[in-house]
Amino acid sequence: YKREQNDVLKAYEWLSKLYHHLLRHTKEGKEGYNYLLSRGFTDDIIDKFQLGFSPGSKDFIAEFLEKKGFHKQLMVKAGILSVNEQDVVTDRFRSRVIFPIRNHLGKCIAFGGRTITNQEPKYLNSPETDLFQKGKLLYNFDLARSAIRKEQKAVLFEGYMDVISAYKAGVHNGVATLGTSITESQAKLLRRYVDTVVICYDADKAGVQAAYKAAKLLKSVNCTVKVATMPNNLDPDEYIGQYGADRFKQDVLDASDTYMTFLMKFLAKDYNLHLEGDRIQYVERILDEIALMERPIEREYYLKELSNQFDLSLDTLSLEVRNRLKKTV
Ligand code: GTP
Ligand code: MN
Ligand code: MN
Ligand code: MN
Ligand code: MN
Repeated sequence: YKREQNDVLKAYEWLSKLYHHLLRHTKEGKEGYNYLLSRGFTDDIIDKFQLGFSPGSKDFIAEFLEKKGFHKQLMVKAGILSVNEQDVVTDRFRSRVIFPIRNHLGKCIAFGGRTITNQEPKYLNSPETDLFQKGKLLYNFDLARSAIRKEQKAVLFEGYMDVISAYKAGVHNGVATLGTSITESQAKLLRRYVDTVVICYDADKAGVQAAYKAAKLLKSVNCTVKVATMPNNLDPDEYIGQYGADRFKQDVLDASDTYMTFLMKFLAKDYNLHLEGDRIQYVERILDEIALMERPIEREYYLKELSNQFDLSLDTLSLEVRNRLKKTV
């Protein structure tokens, strides 16, 4: 078993090198290379993240691995190769730009492949295996770790492209989940290294909804949560492309909302705050959230804000929170 795992790791290493070589130095890889250039990537960035290209052939990789002496069935089991309807072993990734997915030790244990020809799905990932469990891994954690430590802060993105664009913009403490919502295990992993996590998800509806969920989960493992927001449904990669690195750092990351401010804005969307009934329900909802806060000083701070905003006495609001706390113990 140990031996098999070793072989699989070796295959991933060979293959990520091959994909990268094809992208950088061959005619087959040219379209992948041009695609990445069109998205603003440079040679330095392509090398740093070892980005690659999988050719359109149905068995180029299968043949390559066989020549290297890797066992076909093992490669299938490891998710590196696929089996088609005719039971023939074939390449899994075709005509895709390849993002090697590394574990925390920097070893490639999976790939993400983006279509450059509008095929479905847009991103194809390696299947989950013993080695690769999406919910336990954060993309780029190995490269970001030292910056995360140094800045005592991590930035959480939705996608590979966002992490890499941010890196190019000088933000080196960025990581991403792999197309799923953040899990408790990922949240705890981050918490082991930092206090503060800045959520920087896409500004579309799905992204904001996901940010709400991520904020709650990160808060529940005692992170200091901040949420960055961007205009016009942009995602971080698009924002950096349009407004540049400086504005991304200043107007998005440094200007991110505190947890409670984000929550207040987010929840306000469900209410018509011009209506008295809605205003009361909204205040009750925010009080529920304040009651969940661990630190008294934090509770008091937001109670004051609420008191000012809705012209309610601090005493009444504090009483409401105390009642909620009694119910939960
Ligand atoms: P670009 O369109 O290349 O800029 O990528 P993006 O990161 O902006 O994509 P999007 O916001 O649509 O999705 C965020 C992340 O979810 C991606 O980076 C992927 O990890 C994942 N994802 C998106 N689409 C798919 C899909 O079709 N299948 C899978 N498995 N994951 C996806
Ligand atoms: Mn290289
Ligand atoms: Mn998205
Ligand atoms: Mn996006
Ligand atoms: Mn994008």
